[in-house]
Amino acid sequence: MKSLLEQVEEVRRSFEESAANSTEQLQELRVRYLGKKGALTTLLKTLGTLPPSERPTAGERLNEFRDELERRLEQKRLELRNAENARQEAAERIDVSLPPRGRRAGAFHPVTQTLHEIVGILKGMGYSVALGPEKEEEFYNFEALNMPSWHPARDMQDTFYFPDGSLLRTHTSPVQVRSMLEHGAPLRIVCPGKVYRRDSDPTHSPMFNQIEGLLVDKDVSFSVLKGSMEELMRAFFGRRLKSRFRASYFPFTEPSMELDVECVECGGKNPSCRVCKGTGWLEVCGMGMVHPFVIRSGGIDPDRYNGFAFGMGLDRMAMLKYGINDLRLLFDGNVSYFLAGRDA
Ligand code: DAH
Repeated sequence: MKSLLEQVEEVRRSFEESAANSTEQLQELRVRYLGKKGALTTLLKTLGTLPPSERPTAGERLNEFRDELERRLEQKRLELRNAENARQEAAERIDVSLPPRGRRAGAFHPVTQTLHEIVGILKGMGYSVALGPEKEEEFYNFEALNMPSWHPARDMQDTFYFPDGSLLRTHTSPVQVRSMLEHGAPLRIVCPGKVYRRDSDPTHSPMFNQIEGLLVDKDVSFSVLKGSMEELMRAFFGRRLKSRFRASYFPFTEPSMELDVECVECGGKNPSCRVCKGTGWLEVCGMGMVHPFVIRSGGIDPDRYNGFAFGMGLDRMAMLKYGINDLRLLFDGNVSYFLAGRDA
């Protein structure tokens, strides 16, 4: 028959060979060795069969062995728990340095950006924003701007009329008169907004955006107008562009001019340039010294005050600055064109 020590060794070996890869298996192991019918318990029961002189040492030995098994089971339990924690951590790990997937930040529409830029520049020059209604009276849109009903200039602006005789404003210029009547002189305002004309083709939309400026003060000179416009263009396009002022005609300004700047696309060097059509110049802005008739319409004495005004197409400015070649893209719901441009 095997000695107790030999049996302890056997149990230890078999314990060492058994694996526990989960809490359940570990529990089974505990039952198998320390349970009521476990290997160690069975050994303890044989104590009584030993001669009394051997019992104390054997008992001590078995107790040590039990402690050892307890220790090892506890160690295994900790190993299992650590492994489980590590697995869970790896599975739930969030890499905060990963860039977000498929997210794009929103952005302002190019026309809105252009509006903010131009208004920002003019605010820096002391102008305040003034707004007016899109449904406008004939008086503000035409009459007060020196365009009586018989005036041929009304033909330049194909107007949407309402049955009651009011209209959708054809330009932002009526805000000039409204602002003068409201605030008097001196005055510096910038009015952005939507305007409407019976026009629809690849380069015209029935609704488009304009931005208008008006300055009224004492002894305002033509040269201040020219300097202000050149500075506005320099600030807007981010560099000094060659410019030229061409004599023009608007009923509400006298004299009137149009400002051309050097083509932002080809700098005047490409005879087949799409943007300037080979002329080397871009028309950007209409302007002039405010007609005394208009100053008077605004309730201001033209013998004491004069001023200048300017107006331009916001959509056109956006297209020039951001290299957009089709006006319709600006009013299209499909933003992929702009997103593609932004990612490039
Ligand atoms: N109202 C003009 C238009 O719609 C633009 C314009 C030209 C506005 C000259 C002005 C100006 O204030 O002085 O074509």
